[in-house]
Amino acid sequence: MTNAQKWVAAFLVLFIVLFILSRNALKEEINVNDIEFYEPETQNPTTANTSEMDGLALLENIGCTSCHGGDLKGTRMAPSLYIAKEHFDRSELINYLRNPADYSNDPRFDMYQDKYKGIVMPSYSNIDVKKLGKIADYLLMLQE
Ligand code: HEC
Repeated sequence: MTNAQKWVAAFLVLFIVLFILSRNALKEEINVNDIEFYEPETQNPTTANTSEMDGLALLENIGCTSCHGGDLKGTRMAPSLYIAKEHFDRSELINYLRNPADYSNDPRFDMYQDKYKGIVMPSYSNIDVKKLGKIADYLLMLQE
């Protein structure tokens, strides 16, 4: 090997070492970015889930389940809430909860009055409409 060849070889080795080092540094940078970007997303539960929980929690809190049953499928005191979606849209259901008497001319309610004698669906006009909205959303998505 001549001196010149040794220099070329030395530069080649140096170049390769620098190249590998810079590649590793680049890789690390990308990984750190990935973690920072994805972390917030994995910590947030989906909003669909929380609103579902809220609806059911409200039904239990307010005491609807004490008449309509823990599974909302009806008891000797009150009918199942699974069929509410066949009779009400969202705003009708909110109105009904605020003032059930407004809907008493539907023949279905004559039948209820016979079946659940002495028990009346309370009026919930004192409850925040947003909460009633959450309850309505929950009842409208109930599936057998
Ligand atoms: C004291 C018992 C009682 C409580 C508490 C109660 N309900 Fe009722 N609910 C009834 C009865 C009884 C009926 C049947 C209609 C009637 O007789 O007024 C009824 C009817 C309904 C209906 C209409 C069902 C249909 O087929 O159209 C809905 C919807 C409803 N209740 C939702 C609720 C919600 C939501 C709550 C809580 C915010 C609640 N109820 C709390 C007794 C109750």
